[in-house]
Amino acid sequence: MPDTSAWQALKAHRKTWNALRLRDLFAKDKKRFERLSLRLDDLLFDYSKNLVDAETIKLLVRLARENKVELMREAMFAGDRINLTEDRAVLHTALRNRSERPVLVDGQDVMPEVRRVLKQMRGFVNQVRSGKWKGYKGDAITDIVNIGIGGSDLGPVMACQALAPYAKKGLNAHFVSNVDPTHLAEVLKRVNPETTLFVVASKTFTTQETLANAHAARAWFLKAAKKPEAVAKHFVAVSTNAAEVGKFGIDTANMFGFWDWVGGRYSLWSAIGLPIALYVGMDNFEELLAGGFDMDEHFRTAPLDKNMPVLMALIGLWYNNFWDAQSYAVLPYDQYMARFPAYLQQLDMESNGKSVTREGKPVKVSTGPILFGEPGTNGQHAFYQLIHQGTKLVPCDFLAAAEPQNPVADQHEILLANCFAQTEALMKGKTAEEARAELAAAGLGKAEIKELLPHKVFSGNRPTNTLIYRKLTPRTLGRLIALYEHKVFVQGVIWNVNSYDQWGVELGKQLAKVILPEIKAATPAKGHDASTNGLIDYCRQWR
Ligand code: F6P
Repeated sequence: MPDTSAWQALKAHRKTWNALRLRDLFAKDKKRFERLSLRLDDLLFDYSKNLVDAETIKLLVRLARENKVELMREAMFAGDRINLTEDRAVLHTALRNRSERPVLVDGQDVMPEVRRVLKQMRGFVNQVRSGKWKGYKGDAITDIVNIGIGGSDLGPVMACQALAPYAKKGLNAHFVSNVDPTHLAEVLKRVNPETTLFVVASKTFTTQETLANAHAARAWFLKAAKKPEAVAKHFVAVSTNAAEVGKFGIDTANMFGFWDWVGGRYSLWSAIGLPIALYVGMDNFEELLAGGFDMDEHFRTAPLDKNMPVLMALIGLWYNNFWDAQSYAVLPYDQYMARFPAYLQQLDMESNGKSVTREGKPVKVSTGPILFGEPGTNGQHAFYQLIHQGTKLVPCDFLAAAEPQNPVADQHEILLANCFAQTEALMKGKTAEEARAELAAAGLGKAEIKELLPHKVFSGNRPTNTLIYRKLTPRTLGRLIALYEHKVFVQGVIWNVNSYDQWGVELGKQLAKVILPEIKAATPAKGHDASTNGLIDYCRQWR
């Protein structure tokens, strides 16, 4: 990393950028867009509005090579145990392997098992969607309630929302993740126990929030159904932990399995995707997998300087480590992608929010960025001010579909116009001369112009990527998700962190277990700092 020659060369190269303006580079090079954009089928990745030139890309690619990105990529696809702290392979790519290639873990091909679960999912999905799967009163299922959190929630929520145009009429998908009982209560108000199917999704099947919600859902259900044997028709589980599923009382015949080599935040491709498959059908779910596979093949085989996830990762790292950018915005101009930034928050921040290296030494450089985002155009009327004129550099990804799912008058064109206008404005900015001319043309006097001018200037040179796809199909969504997954992978390799564990979430979980009985206790809390004791006691007085 900082000790590699490419890192040092990039540091020196960064200085040359102090004098460069993107608007000048575009003016000088009419082919900048063609040279700095890539296509994978209908998916266009335009990275020309970035603070990069041929030399930057060359050095960044050298950095990737010096940090063995290609070797690690092979190791991941080959099923090596690259998740060192948990001693696990990282093989979400096997879940969407559409080729005949075997994928070996400890010499064993995992593909027959992957295909077996897909077949099991297809059988179940078809039964539910066709109305053959009956509830305890003999009615077809109308509502699916997924109970899960983190990776057992965010992917399915995001994908179900993104693929709503492909959903079956009359089959609704709901998601309960928060342990705040309000989340479940509000969903239960809208569903009928006779026609509701609960999918309890948890890799470990020990997650406090999920089990609390699942127990509450079962109690609610049994209040109506009365007979415990009715549970089998209304509760299925998705997990790697058959023993705990059995303990909860779900027949393991109604369990869909996956494996420890699927990380929670990479699990929507596994049986964790069951609510997606139920909602949009198994063929569409397999199209999503095919999209992921398209991106895997591209990532595995394209040269580094023509490789979408690699370039995205390197450009992101360039800002993170050489421009001191702390954050990163993902801005889908596609209402169906409204939850994509929230999904990416877990993917990126749980993966690369690390401060020790794979060898357990403190990292010497800044690692994963703070990711945020909202759909455009809403964000424009909220936080874009800071991106345009604030003191922080916020690199952004803009995403948009060329074709609308719901054409209404010229609204889709308005949406696209706004998307492109934002990237243009961020790149070009507005000089003092331009602002002055504009104010003068609006009839303002000299004194007024002098006063207003500093507020009307935009520095520009603010970097963006733009991803355009023809239409948000299941396949396109699969490509986009896998694109970001591999971006995170490449950055993690260069920062030399383990992108596949998440020990940082454990401490809070442990402490919550200690605090829980103290909130319920009749006596004041004593075992913590004054603030924590005080907060516990402040709430206790009303309990
Ligand atoms: O708390 C973090 C985490 O372990 C995530 O990584 C995971 O996606 C989530 O909890 C849910 O875990 P599970 O699927 O085991 O319930």
